[in-house]
Amino acid sequence: MKYYKIVTYGCQMNEHESEKLCGILEKFNLTKTDDDAIADVIVFNTCTIRENAERRAYGNIGALKKLKKQNPEKIVAVGGCLPQQSGKADDLKAKFPFIDIIFGTHNLTEFENMLNRRLESGKKFIDISLDEYKMPIDVPVKRSTYPNAYVNVMFGCNNFCTYCIVPYVRGRERSRKPEDIVSEVKSLVESGYKEITLLGQNVDSYGKDLSPKVDFSSLLEQVAKIDGKFRLRFMSNHPKDVNQKLADTIKNNDKICNSIHFPVQSGSTRVLALMNRRYTREDYLKKIKMLRKTVKDIAITTDIMVGFPMETEKDFKDSLTLLKKVKYDGAFTFVYSKRSGTKAYSMDGHVPEDTKKQRIVKLVAIQNNVNKKLAKKYLGKTVEVLVDEFNTDCGYYMGRDERGKAIHFSSNENIVGQFVNVKITKANGISIYGEIV
Ligand code: SAH
Ligand code: SF4
Ligand code: F3S
Repeated sequence: MKYYKIVTYGCQMNEHESEKLCGILEKFNLTKTDDDAIADVIVFNTCTIRENAERRAYGNIGALKKLKKQNPEKIVAVGGCLPQQSGKADDLKAKFPFIDIIFGTHNLTEFENMLNRRLESGKKFIDISLDEYKMPIDVPVKRSTYPNAYVNVMFGCNNFCTYCIVPYVRGRERSRKPEDIVSEVKSLVESGYKEITLLGQNVDSYGKDLSPKVDFSSLLEQVAKIDGKFRLRFMSNHPKDVNQKLADTIKNNDKICNSIHFPVQSGSTRVLALMNRRYTREDYLKKIKMLRKTVKDIAITTDIMVGFPMETEKDFKDSLTLLKKVKYDGAFTFVYSKRSGTKAYSMDGHVPEDTKKQRIVKLVAIQNNVNKKLAKKYLGKTVEVLVDEFNTDCGYYMGRDERGKAIHFSSNENIVGQFVNVKITKANGISIYGEIV
């Protein structure tokens, strides 16, 4: 065996778990490739947040059938959130009998054993342990996002938003010990990482399950005290839990970026209640005010969806007016997707597909407008940028300022991983360009 390929779907949490799977695969002395034909092991790290994420995974796995027939020695493994969903492992097995290993998010740490067992016995292998949710920690990590590094602070979610599958596939909240998080970040900073993103489904719940209890703001403070020049980001926050203490912590620590992902989901209090979000439009707007008052020029981004069951034209308008009012620095916009097993699945009043489509088009248009206007505000400013990558398609380097805004510029030398000052010279559409000064 020489090569492996990994295909990742879904959120940052999953991206980071793929880095762990790569770490495990490289223990087998395998090298990464993108080529199905030469890969000896192909791993799909799946997502099931929306139907199209699931559909893409099914499509890509199905496409391997021929190759696997030609070369039965090739090992195909499917992991992540999809097999973890009730009934899906059996469904995958029935549709794609050629899959060798099926595992879930709860037994990622077992992947090494499973692969060994598959190699030794030659037998197909399915293992979804639903009993104890293990934390996927203490495994080797092969990082692929330099100069950024993801660090898990907690796993799982207890919120049960009625549309969301995550609590069913990721289990209940479990926090890592603060000292373990601090020591991981320390070693990342010492080895040259310049931006640390702390990950959790709802980081504001961090530490509630630890004894003694620790809150997220205290964790942030501890991490921000680590020596060296680096940026600290975190996601996601739940509006019901964001408080003044968090805002003060962002304000008082230079290393913590002036930026927050603050998913609203809907601008209608009625829909928010149906979603079990446990805040109203007014509560949410009050917190926006508090954040902006406390942290000067804080960047606020959001997630928002259209077409939740029973969403009326009036509810939808509430989302539009909210976008116009808040003027987010970025919004991830989604069409509600029915997930079996969730509460919303069996609610009445599912919105017809064409109505959902019309709504998403309007929503996106409004946010695009906001994006354009906000991009213009950057013109003439000089900002500190951490250089993320060279984009071969457009021939520019790309980096982000503290607020998370993507900025493009040229350079004759490779400056990935460096902090540079960039003066913004062009802001057409949503793309921002500048010159290093
Ligand atoms: N824990 C994070 C991320 C959840 S998944 C958080 O709470 O912010 C990312 C986003 O996907 C959610 O914020 C939501 O906007 C969207 N999402 C989740 N379930 C969905 C569904 N069934 N249909 C459409 N969008 C969904
Ligand atoms: Fe899903 Fe809500 Fe948990 Fe986020 S907070 S993962 S949207 S249940
Ligand atoms: Fe993430 Fe998708 Fe699972 S969004 S938590 S990979 S269902």
